[in-house]
Order: sequence, then structure tokens, then C-alpha cells
Amino acid sequence: MILEEVLAAFGVASELEPAVFRAPARINLIGEHTDYNDGFVMPAAVDRQLFFAIAVNQKNSHELMALEMEQSVEIDPSLDQMPAEGWAKYFYAVLAVLAEKGLVPNTVTCAFGGNIPIGSGMSSSAALTCGFAFALNDLFGWKLNRLELAKIGQAAEHRVGIKCGLMDQYAVLFGKEEQVVKLNCQTHTHEYAPLKLGDYRLVLFNTMVQHSLADTAYNDRRKSCESVLDFLNKKIGISSLKELTIEKLSEYKSEIDPIAYQRVRYVLEENQRVVAAQKALMTGALTTLGKLMYASHEGLSKEYEVSCEELDFLVDQVRNEEGVLGARMMGGGFGGCTLNLIHVDAIETVQQKLNKSYDQKFGKKPDMTEVVTADGIGRVR
Ligand code: GLA
Repeated sequence: MILEEVLAAFGVASELEPAVFRAPARINLIGEHTDYNDGFVMPAAVDRQLFFAIAVNQKNSHELMALEMEQSVEIDPSLDQMPAEGWAKYFYAVLAVLAEKGLVPNTVTCAFGGNIPIGSGMSSSAALTCGFAFALNDLFGWKLNRLELAKIGQAAEHRVGIKCGLMDQYAVLFGKEEQVVKLNCQTHTHEYAPLKLGDYRLVLFNTMVQHSLADTAYNDRRKSCESVLDFLNKKIGISSLKELTIEKLSEYKSEIDPIAYQRVRYVLEENQRVVAAQKALMTGALTTLGKLMYASHEGLSKEYEVSCEELDFLVDQVRNEEGVLGARMMGGGFGGCTLNLIHVDAIETVQQKLNKSYDQKFGKKPDMTEVVTADGIGRVR
């Protein structure tokens, strides 16, 4: 959905001149399920986005229009009723989080739409919550900074149900063209690392599934890591998994539930992989980066157990393909996309092969999306 269509939809509902904002999707190069464990992540904003056309209205309610869904919802500013529509819950949650901070906007009319594949694990919800919060902040001159906006997006997500970390919101707000964001989730500070891929490209293959256990399993993983932290806090006084090493953890192996132990060890290993990936990017060692991606997938699949048959299949199928340096599941897991580092000349062949083998096995073709890094949320006009 392009900007003109969003403006046209807005024009049908209102004669006002809207402000326009763009909120990108994100990918994550490496560092999965580490964000809510105070670890490192390495996401980037990409060239898939939502556009918001928005203006203050003279009505008694917020008027929201979702172009792809072809739905409109009105939200009463009293916020006494959460809307039923999935996407509208996020708008509602942003308004509720802002209200808790004493930030109550005049009612607005807002049309939005874009080209982020829903359910692909590219964080359309972070684009939505942070894009809306950014727009309101701009329109009403609240002067919230990007980190504050990211936290508002995260709190909104928590209200809707997923106890996510800050990676997605941070990436869509702080992303920069040709860079990945190396975020320290303990200090909420970041460095940029240049993404110089030469003839290689970032390609997503979508499993076209989102298993229903995803939200519960996500929250469970988080709890399981927190339980180990609680235990070690009592034992040795650490207050963050960031203070833990694999060696230290292993000293308590017999006292920790084996599954929880395995999860936390994965997190510590993945943090090391992010640091190694940053080095690899700095020196242009793309083969090393690719190996780290495979290792990350292995950990997510076997140790953290958030992959699924479809994701594992897509990764396994490209493993020995010429021109593929690395592949891994991306995001929360249990469906969504794999992220692949592929030579530009190999993309078509890989796609054709996957179309065939995935179709044979699962009866559908995996959608392919090639992405390039892009700037974070901003006002377009
Ligand atoms: C989802 C969450 C993020 C992060 C990833 C896994 O995308 O929203 O906070 O935890 O899963 O890395």
C-alpha cells in the first residue's frame, strides 16, 4: 500500500490536511530472545513500512482506518472500551499508556497502511505502536525522545499481551540506512555497525505460518530465564543475566531445572555471537557472519526451542546451496520468516528450489522479500 493510497483513504474521511509519518519494519541480523534478558541484539530498520496520515479532528472520538484490513474503528477518548479488532488494540494501548503519563491528545483522524507482511516477524506491531506514538508526540509537541517513545511502544505491546523486550521498538525508532543497530538492552544504548554486504543480500523467506502457541511460549521462555535469574540473585547476588558467564552458570547446573538451564545458556551464547557478528561486520568477514547466523538458528531450534518444523526446513534447505552464507529464523519464532544472507546471483535459484521443496512438504510456497536497511520512523510531511 503506497502513500498516495493512504492519503486517498484519509481524504474520504476528512477534509483536513494531514501530517504524514513513515514507520519501517525491522529485521534482526542476530541476537534473538536476548533483549528481555538484558543482552545484545543487532536489528535494523528496513525498506518496508507503514504510512500514517493523521490530523486533529473536531469529533468526540479517535477515528482510525486500517487500509489493508479495510476496517475503521472509533476509540472513545475515555478509553473505557478496548476495541475488538487486533490492529486497533495497539492504537488503544498506545493511548492508554500515554494517558498514564498524563499525555492525553485531542481526538485524531488517522489512516494507515503499508507493505509490511503481517505475521512475518518483521514487527508490523512495533511500526504501528511507535509510528502512532511518534505522530502524536510530533503533533502535540510533547517532546518525548526516541527512547521514551520506544518504551511507550513496548508498554503498549505488553498491554496487548506479549511481554516483549525493547528490540523491535528500538530498531524502528533508531534504525539508519546502511547500518545495523547494536543495542545493549541493559543500558539501552546503541552503536551503529555498517552493513556492507557487497554482492550479498538480505532475503526473507516466509513460512506462511504463525503457530498459535507463539505468545504463550514467548512469555514462558521469558519466565524461565527470570526464574534462573531469581535463583542466582539469591545465590550470588547478580541482578541481570548480563553479569553471568557460561562458566559461572555451569557451577549451578545441578541446582537449576535442566530446561531453564539450557535456555539461559543459549542466551549467554547468543550474546557472544552478537559481539562476534559485530566484529565480522567491521572486518567484512561475511562468511563468519553467515556461520554465526546458522549457529544462532541451531541454538534457537535445539536449546531455546522456539523454532518449528517449517523454519527448520527452510534453513536446512539452503544450508548447502551455493551462494548462501547463512540463514536463521528471525524474531519470536514458531513461524514467521527466516533471514538469509545470499549472493545476488544465487537468489533466483534458491527461491525456485525452495518454492518447489516447501510446496512438496507443506503445500504452499514461501513468500520471498528482499530487504535493504532504511532510516527509522520520521515525518514525511
Ligand atoms: C519478538 C519480540 C522482541 C524479541 C524477539 C526475539 O520480536 O517482540 O522483543 O524478544 O521476539 O528476539
